[in-house]
Amino acid sequence: MLNHEKPLRIALTKGRLEKDTVGLFERMGHDCSDLRDKGRRLFLRIPDLNMEVVLAKANDVITYVEHGVCDLGVVGKDTIMEMGRSVFEIADLGFGRCHFALAGRKGDHFYEGYAVKTIATKYPRVARGFFESKGMDVDIVKIEGSVELAPLLGLSDAIVDIVETGTTLKENGLEVFEEIAAISARMIVNTASLKFRQTEIENFADSVEHAIARERTDRQ
Ligand code: PRP
Repeated sequence: MLNHEKPLRIALTKGRLEKDTVGLFERMGHDCSDLRDKGRRLFLRIPDLNMEVVLAKANDVITYVEHGVCDLGVVGKDTIMEMGRSVFEIADLGFGRCHFALAGRKGDHFYEGYAVKTIATKYPRVARGFFESKGMDVDIVKIEGSVELAPLLGLSDAIVDIVETGTTLKENGLEVFEEIAAISARMIVNTASLKFRQTEIENFADSVEHAIARERTDRQ
């Protein structure tokens, strides 16, 4: 229970991560009725936690936490990696699991040949970092969605994208060539908030991590 006069403010990534976070908080016994009955409101409350909740796009969650207008945030590691900012991750929430992968047409030998390869991706920073770490020069084309189309249309030799179940790749005749990084939802914290409200924030993060660990054990 958090009793500080000023509520802690947390930004949740709208959509799936928001729903997973609300589910987790409810299983921890917190009253999320305001979030369940939110309509189009973006500013909500969890009264027993003395917590304000704002709903935002993933990139904006990081921006709000970085600027200190939110103390905490829940955002995917994919967004953290692509924005390339050094945010302080206080907990791995375990849900939203998927990974970044290099993928392309099934049976293609991506690493063969000397021609500079073209990579289509929604995540140019992640793709650039991956190939830089291999010392490999590539051309990167930014695509906004359904990146799987790019190798099928002949725009790129491969893609760097998120793979969750692998169904999209499979159903389009593509396959993973190499896994790049594991992704899951992270709780991030503003460093000044952590300094000034350290006990409160750490106690809350600990209770979240204990709940996740307990659920993991129960499932085994
Ligand atoms: C993501 C990702 C893949 C797909 C992977 O796309 O970019 O296309 O999900 O999921 P799977 O491995 O379970 O099939 P998203 O659904 O966000 O749509 P988008 O491609 O339009 O961005």
